[in-house]
Amino acid sequence: MAHQWRGLLREYAERLPLEESDPVVTLLEGGTPLVEAPAISKRVGARVWLKVEGANPTGSFKDRGMTMAVSKIAATDTQMIACASTGNTSASAAAYAVAAGLQCVVILPAGKIAAGKLAQAIMHGARLVQVDGNFDDALRLVRKLTETYPVALVNSVNPYRLQGQKTAAFEIVDALGDAPDIHILPVGNAGNISAYWMGYNEYAGQKAVTTMEESYRNLPAVATHVPQMWGVQAAGAAPFVAGHPIDNPETIATAIRIGFPASWDFASRARDDSKGLITAVPDEEIMRAQQIIAGEAGVFVEPASAASVAGLLRAAEDGRVPRDARIVCTVTGNGLKDTKTALAALPDGGMQAEVVAPDTHEVAELLGLK
Ligand code: F0G
Repeated sequence: MAHQWRGLLREYAERLPLEESDPVVTLLEGGTPLVEAPAISKRVGARVWLKVEGANPTGSFKDRGMTMAVSKIAATDTQMIACASTGNTSASAAAYAVAAGLQCVVILPAGKIAAGKLAQAIMHGARLVQVDGNFDDALRLVRKLTETYPVALVNSVNPYRLQGQKTAAFEIVDALGDAPDIHILPVGNAGNISAYWMGYNEYAGQKAVTTMEESYRNLPAVATHVPQMWGVQAAGAAPFVAGHPIDNPETIATAIRIGFPASWDFASRARDDSKGLITAVPDEEIMRAQQIIAGEAGVFVEPASAASVAGLLRAAEDGRVPRDARIVCTVTGNGLKDTKTALAALPDGGMQAEVVAPDTHEVAELLGLK
């Protein structure tokens, strides 16, 4: 019989802090493709898969955390949710607010949100507040706002967000039969690397630093080991590489234009305890990686997402990729969210100028067909 994926809250119910009495607010997120990428494997001399999170309902991994957080909020009297965002969190919060029948406010750094993400928040009826500042300013503001007023915070400092996001690690182990050797992902506010680390540890039956007490620790182990966690930042917004917060983060990958990551301690533990690393790549390498992922793996991702593969390619050039290692790169968001930046990075803006008559011979000639 046909089976539809039921959303991660139901698929992983035994490992998530959802009570029987909690409503399930879902757009059937999760269950995203883990796509093997032979061309990228060949480039780096390892076996590489892409976890395609742009296939979630609002086009990014944020939906995993949002289904969990908003379900918990929908069980309370709170009528309004709020977040600061570089775009994807706001798109996701706005959509899940609709599903839950809640109001949504999104606080955004003015002029720094990709058009597709802004359109999503608008179409889902969120109240937009644009601030003259960056994401870090917006997050400070929304934390104060939600402490003072009856508004629930849905940024990843809400512990339920990371609980939902950890399910991506479960899906990878379920698909591969065990944990990969290395997991690579972009790092901005540093929630996602923390969530994956939690998920991998939980599935390996190991104790890790976590966001809440978990009863499901006693479930049988599914994986035999945990991977090294490799985080990748944009060079202009790389506080983990600098070792301290950055005041004026700047990168073409606006989703990870963050100088003061909220999950600093969790992410540092993920890096150190996994014997992993957090590196930085320049914007040009991010855009080149975006082109390689699209042109050689058939997956169109947004610039921030391409940072993971850019970090992998750079590590391979530096001789730091173990031969034949099993490597998963999370590509966090859909390329359709920001077509402008993608095309602008191509010669001639990627546009082919020729216009011909609707004539088969003329078109064949243009294409050089014989
Ligand atoms: N990739 C994408 C596409 C993102 O949107 C984000 C974060 C990240 C990676 C980094 O993840 O923050 O958990 O380290 N976007 C947030 C937002 C900040 O507001 O949408 P992180």
